[in-house]
Amino acid sequence: LKEEGTEIQNLKSKASALDVADPLGHFRDRFVVDDLIYLDGNSLGRLPKATAERIREVVEQQWGERVICSWGEGWLDLPQRIGDKIGRLIGAKEGETIAADSTSVNFYKLVHAALSATDGRVVVTNSSNFPSDLYLLQGLGIEIRQIDSESDEAIAAALDDRTALLTLSHVEFKSGLRHDMKRLTDAAHAVGAKVLWDLSHSVGAVPIDIGEADLAVGCTYKYLNGGPGATAFLYVRKDLQEALRSPIQGWFGQQNAFEFGLNYSPAGGIGRFLAGTPPILSLAATEPGIDLLLEAGMDKVGEKAALQTAFLMEVADSLSLEVITPRNPQRRGSHVAIRHEAAWPIAQALIAEKSVVPDFRTPDVLRLGIAPLYTRYADLAEAMKRIAEVIETRVYHAYSSEIGGVT
Ligand SMILES: Cc1ncc(COP(=O)(O)O)c(C=O)c1O
Repeated sequence: LKEEGTEIQNLKSKASALDVADPLGHFRDRFVVDDLIYLDGNSLGRLPKATAERIREVVEQQWGERVICSWGEGWLDLPQRIGDKIGRLIGAKEGETIAADSTSVNFYKLVHAALSATDGRVVVTNSSNFPSDLYLLQGLGIEIRQIDSESDEAIAAALDDRTALLTLSHVEFKSGLRHDMKRLTDAAHAVGAKVLWDLSHSVGAVPIDIGEADLAVGCTYKYLNGGPGATAFLYVRKDLQEALRSPIQGWFGQQNAFEFGLNYSPAGGIGRFLAGTPPILSLAATEPGIDLLLEAGMDKVGEKAALQTAFLMEVADSLSLEVITPRNPQRRGSHVAIRHEAAWPIAQALIAEKSVVPDFRTPDVLRLGIAPLYTRYADLAEAMKRIAEVIETRVYHAYSSEIGGVT
């Protein structure tokens, strides 16, 4: 891909024509952006302009002027209100989703709740699942059947009548493979097991129909652009809520918390999965990003994710790079994973010398994340050109292959 070659010119003209025709193109102006080619929105999303304004309002007016009165003027309802908005992104009904805690804590609460409500003890998952989820399972003293496959067929085959719970990342964090949610939910139900989906890499990236799934968790700092460490969410299907109990019996999950009764009795509905006081600043900061996705519509966001990932794959193929993300757009999320033995030094060279921020996942995966609301085709074309330069000129040889830091 040489600058003077027709190939790069063709790619650039194709990209700019696609940007002009892009129905979501104008959303980019609603984010704080600069010349950096940021392909890491799958890890930490960019800052929506409205969020800075919202934080100022919450700090200066709600906290600064109204102080404790603000709890009764909107803060107390915030976990439910924002939860319901996230629910609309995943096809849930009102009262099934709540914003709370971190993804890890929510995962622990829901696995514990699911297992306490059944005799089965075996949890089925796969070894490409996000490590935090695996660690949390390991800490629960349960039997884990961890299969070394991302194939829906192999996962379905690992379920049997001893299975209490199937849990997977809907979109795999390394490969970007998207599981068939309905198929695996049905397969779990067919053996009498529940299913818990980790939506961290799919919510806000692709349309989700949570359907009959029992449980889900996810984070808001990736495609929802909620900010670093922003409050996560959990989903529990309506008809299961009364039967399930959070193992973290904090006062925010208590019925009539402000009666200060001495014995725990869980709140009705999804509110029982709260634990302690919600972090209002972080929670409020998630709303503008979620609103932008609702305004754009997840169908359109998903269509653009499919087109942009295909665009990236086509260029990666022309450079003979090894793409490990599925080719079927229904079976992938919104990032493209490239396997390269020098992925880590290449990522460092891109950041240090080329103003391109990809991310890296050990041992050899370069991830290129697309956030359809602010990623342009022109960014993708330019990023691939710079990746080609880094590889062809071997400048990455100057960078350490010792892995370290946040990637
Ligand atoms: C798929 C998945 N699950 C769980 C987590 C853990 O989230 P947290 O650190 O917010 O608890 C992450 C973090 O990136 C993730 O990507």
